[in-house]
Amino acid sequence: MKIALLGTGLIGTFYTMSIHGLRSRDEVVIVYSRSEERGAKFAKENNIPNWTTNLEEAVSHPDVDAVIVGLPNNLHKAAIFAAVDAGKAVLCTKPLARNAEEAWEILQKVEKAGIFHGYLEDLVYTPKHLKAHASVENGAIGNVLWVRSREAHPGPHSDWFWNPEISGGGAIIDLGCHCIEIGRSFIGKDIRPVEVVCWADTQVKPIEAEDHAIGLVRFQNGAIGQFEVSWCFRGGMELKDEVAGVDGSIRIDNFLRTGFEMFSAPGKKGYVAEKAETDTGWLFPVGDEVHELGYNHMFTDMFNAIESGQNPIESFYDGYVVNAIMDACYLSAKTKKWEPVELKEWRGKTKVEPLSAFVEYDENHWLVKKETLPDGRKKVILKVKSSGEIIEKVD
Ligand SMILES: NC(=O)c1ccc[n+]([C@@H]2O[C@H](COP(=O)([O-])OP(=O)(O)OC[C@H]3O[C@@H](n4cnc5c(N)ncnc54)[C@H](O)[C@@H]3O)[C@@H](O)[C@H]2O)c1
Repeated sequence: MKIALLGTGLIGTFYTMSIHGLRSRDEVVIVYSRSEERGAKFAKENNIPNWTTNLEEAVSHPDVDAVIVGLPNNLHKAAIFAAVDAGKAVLCTKPLARNAEEAWEILQKVEKAGIFHGYLEDLVYTPKHLKAHASVENGAIGNVLWVRSREAHPGPHSDWFWNPEISGGGAIIDLGCHCIEIGRSFIGKDIRPVEVVCWADTQVKPIEAEDHAIGLVRFQNGAIGQFEVSWCFRGGMELKDEVAGVDGSIRIDNFLRTGFEMFSAPGKKGYVAEKAETDTGWLFPVGDEVHELGYNHMFTDMFNAIESGQNPIESFYDGYVVNAIMDACYLSAKTKKWEPVELKEWRGKTKVEPLSAFVEYDENHWLVKKETLPDGRKKVILKVKSSGEIIEKVD
């Protein structure tokens, strides 16, 4: 793949590290930056042969197969439109847009033009997520009842994130998009998100948008996706997921507490990990950040899909659904009520299986629970089928 990269900020850096690091046959051939100085420096540091301050020039470069959008959220739509008009496959970072209306316009544009589109939601491509997801698909934990996904850090690194006109919101639009898609991924992207309830507040930062939020997304089959996002969490970047199924559970730490801990009295003297607050004392580095954050598997999926004419795991339709869920969250945070997720088009299942999985104890009883007590006795809680009475039996 020959890539035009739009944006030379944090995500442009991570994307280039991933693309140039994993599959040497893929290459960023041109980078767009609005600053000549930054563009030239970024190109030199990353062995990119061309750089430009003209976005159209980047997307229409004759060598380019695919355009990657790594610009602030308010620029995603125009950048995607430019890539589509140039006839190039287009991959866009999260969130797809600032709201569902903008995301829908983007989706219409790519689909009408028949252009390949990939939504760069890296956190459903982390090695831990992929393995956990495969286990869920194999039935290892039964039907998924509840997914709790948490992303929390001390706040973003650039001015534009803090301006809701440019970014579309605060911690929900910035971090909630990841957590919501992680929830959809485990619960099933073909299960319709029906309604949400959300608390959001500005607890600490001198900004208009929310710096902290918690939300519940209820799915048509009764499963719940819970997200917890914060821009005022101290101590680094937490990326933590929990999945609870009828027959099991999964817990994942993708960052901060990955099993790698270091103590340095004089200081590590440099970068520790994304959003780390200090380089002295107890530190939590991350082994291979671009790998552990999912970028490698994400681009492998995207580029393989382009080459083989298949759909990637994450498309702009997914980005649109996530934007629609976030719109409902913003509304719910205002009304303090459950609010419906408004989707112009639902492409998943319309009929769903119930989540309940009754276990029969014997022909007259349902099993509610069995447990070994501290004194070694075995106890079962049963429901009598005929009367509905709940009883217990001790062995
Ligand atoms: N895990 C992830 O997937 C992830 C992580 C970080 C950021 N992002 C997303 O990537 C996008 C960029 O975020 P970032 O962290 O790289 O931000 P950043 O501030 O580090 O970089 C933004 C880039 O856009 C350029 N830019 C800013 N305003 C511009 C303008 N008006 N015209 C042209 N260029 C302009 C900047 O110069 C810079 O090169 C955002 O949509 C963000 O949500 C995704």
